[in-house]
Amino acid sequence: MTTRQQREDVLRRAGFNMFAIDAKDVLIDLLTDSGTGAMSSEQWAGIMRADESYAGAASFHRFYDRVRSITGFEHILPTHQGRASERILFEITAGPGMVIPNNSHFDTTRANIEHSGAKAVDLVIDEAHVPTSRHPFKGNMDVERLERLFHDVGPERIPLVMLTVTNNSGGGQPVSLENTRAVRAVCDAHNTPLFLDACRFAENAYLIKQREKELSGMPVADIVRMMFDLADGATISAKKDGLSNIGGVLLFRKPELAQEARNLLILTEGFVTYGGLAGRDLEAMAQGFAEVLHEDYLQYRVRSIQYLGEKLLAGGVQIVEPPGGHAVYIDAAAFCPHIPQKNFPGQAVVCALYRHAGIRAVEIGSLMFGAGGETPDMELVRLAIPRRVYTQSHLDYVIEAVLEVYGQRDKIRPLEIVEAPAQHHNTFCGIPGCAGLHARHTAHPGQALCFVS
Ligand code: F0G
Repeated sequence: MTTRQQREDVLRRAGFNMFAIDAKDVLIDLLTDSGTGAMSSEQWAGIMRADESYAGAASFHRFYDRVRSITGFEHILPTHQGRASERILFEITAGPGMVIPNNSHFDTTRANIEHSGAKAVDLVIDEAHVPTSRHPFKGNMDVERLERLFHDVGPERIPLVMLTVTNNSGGGQPVSLENTRAVRAVCDAHNTPLFLDACRFAENAYLIKQREKELSGMPVADIVRMMFDLADGATISAKKDGLSNIGGVLLFRKPELAQEARNLLILTEGFVTYGGLAGRDLEAMAQGFAEVLHEDYLQYRVRSIQYLGEKLLAGGVQIVEPPGGHAVYIDAAAFCPHIPQKNFPGQAVVCALYRHAGIRAVEIGSLMFGAGGETPDMELVRLAIPRRVYTQSHLDYVIEAVLEVYGQRDKIRPLEIVEAPAQHHNTFCGIPGCAGLHARHTAHPGQALCFVS
């Protein structure tokens, strides 16, 4: 607990930058759902039991067998986290002149593609840009636009198509199995592989079960398998649906591509049976990937997020509807119509929420995406819910706090940037024009904002 005065001091010292605030000064931390979940007793037991042999550890085999049985993939590479999988994948498939479509690229994915010299293209359906649209699968890819892209740039310049499940940058919205099949059909017509960014595969499958009628009676594990069966490969961050604090996976159907990836894995991550991890991390992942498919767990998780979203909506706060799998996204442009985009309405709401209640959220809007002069089409504040950490009473506190801030929204003040690092501290971000504000994962100590005087 902190006092309002303490939080005001913390905010000033941090330059109104959430990544520069110490965790001890945060009461409820909704910055991310990545690596912040609580591991179970069985995961911790696995950690104690782990085999740390350099090659062929028993822990690797437990990890391998689990991922194989869930996904059906034969070629399974452990990496230290999702972006390490992306880095390897795009080094062997992308490069100058190439174009990689996705529903919406997550920022590390986009950055790794652009770092390779290729172009990242977002082809999510139009409904995704309208917060009030209640389309059940706002993560779907616009298949016609994908066809057009193949036609315009030619299949030889599209080494793979990607689908992010769920679509984090687009509000955590799911992709339907029907849409995955349709994308797959376009890929087949052009002999192009389909890869999943499958960080939140279990949440996506659970939302398919809830929303795609013909699959409503099916076990989530079977839906997961149907999703993976449609893909030629996948990148996964185990920090989400792996229920682990660290870890990643890279999957391939084709042995030749897997071999190329293994060569790079050894160069930058580690030997093929541990990737960038310790044996104990592989144990935590092996157990986490099993637990995430427990339907009671998924029901509690998805229902908690729906509950948060419904209560905010009922209180008049516009969110990206319907609530998705891992977070509620507040429409900050609607929350603060008096703050122009150039003065970061999302970040202003984020600061107000911290000042009022010690809750840390993250801006996904002009501050995150707009440093290169781009204007994103939505100004969002993401309340990401860590897995197995917060209870309904914590969420009730969040609901009350957001509604109280909403009640005084006309007092929320615009912000401007007073200081930004000349160049990026992030090793992963290669986005041209990005002045270091694309700072969701790594704090930029030099970044600071102030109220517009
Ligand atoms: N893909 C998606 C869809 C993600 O959400 C993330 C991470 C990654 C890839 C990269 O994985 O962090 O293990 O390297 N998302 C976190 C977030 C950081 O806060 O949304 P990573």
